[in-house]
Amino acid sequence: TKIKNIDPTKLTITKTTTPKALLPPEELIFGRNFSDHMLSLEWTAAEGWLPSRIIPYQNLSLDPATCVFHYAFEAFEGMKAYKDKDGNIRLFRPDRNMARLNKSSARIALPTFDGDAMIQLISEFVKTDERFIPNARGYSLYLRPTMIGTQRTLGVGPPASALLYVIASPVGPYYPTGFKAISLEATDYAVRAWPGGVGDKKLGANYAPCIVPQMEAASRGFHQNLWLFGEEEYVTEVGTMNLFAAIKDKETGQPELVTAPLDGTILEGVTRDSVLGLAHERLSPKGWKVSERKFTMKEISEAAHDGRLMEIFGAGTAAIVAPVRRISWKGQLVDCGLADNVEAGPIALQMKEWIESIQYGDEDHIWSHKV
Ligand code: COI
Repeated sequence: TKIKNIDPTKLTITKTTTPKALLPPEELIFGRNFSDHMLSLEWTAAEGWLPSRIIPYQNLSLDPATCVFHYAFEAFEGMKAYKDKDGNIRLFRPDRNMARLNKSSARIALPTFDGDAMIQLISEFVKTDERFIPNARGYSLYLRPTMIGTQRTLGVGPPASALLYVIASPVGPYYPTGFKAISLEATDYAVRAWPGGVGDKKLGANYAPCIVPQMEAASRGFHQNLWLFGEEEYVTEVGTMNLFAAIKDKETGQPELVTAPLDGTILEGVTRDSVLGLAHERLSPKGWKVSERKFTMKEISEAAHDGRLMEIFGAGTAAIVAPVRRISWKGQLVDCGLADNVEAGPIALQMKEWIESIQYGDEDHIWSHKV
């Protein structure tokens, strides 16, 4: 038999008979409310991808022995659909999310798929649930493509069946009160990822173990934890986001925007890549150095001490950027350069502005995919 790939022409749509009421935008809490429908694709090792379906949002029915529950066969994505000023629906760099989901899935023996075909299906899905895309700057429909192994077996092996589904949650600005700088606690007793591991893949199994360090940080009054790696205490990520620092060079005073390199321990963030791309294009001509290199907590602390630390921010799909006010490290509080009455540094603000302008179609850009 011929193994089938995803065929978007075989899509069937079953509309809900019980449409949900829309929540007022200001009541939206991240990831709590979902649209009317879901996109669902089953895969079997024998037949490949079966015809895709848009169906009413509903529970999954899975045998308790299903492999996802036992051995964490799960990979996911985070992406958003936006309404532009002309009423068009737009996705932001969806090819990146599809490529990453394929890499994540392949690493845990789950099937891969044609990214372009999947973008077509996601486009049909967001059109079906278009009314759930809030029509305001800072608001969007968060999409959660999810791949799970569905074989009913406790045997440890490659799943012979899988489910790829996409659900959608209308979301507002990550920080409803506006931009608020966060404080971090550097975690010294746990590591998020390690060389040769899977920290660069978006696997559910990477996230669950990060909650306790996050709770520990919160118990001491910090918003998030900062992930370091190794004896050198390399700065890697913040909570579930990539991290950027703007530092002035000790000798020359040249400003540098730096983030950790993709060495296998860093999630290949779409926002990370977008910040880097925009920095190369728009900050380099103004004299900035843009670097993907290892840097340590000691380097950050020294820069802060010398007054050379300009700002630090997290970057991710959910928040776009998250400015950092201070970092607790080895019993000291490292001040990240924000004035007391300021909630974000100029680079974080500029990046948010540039990225949103592309996402909402105010600026024409190849990163914005019109549905
Ligand atoms: C992000 O978009 O920054 C994330 O990774 C958060 C998501 C897991 C909710």
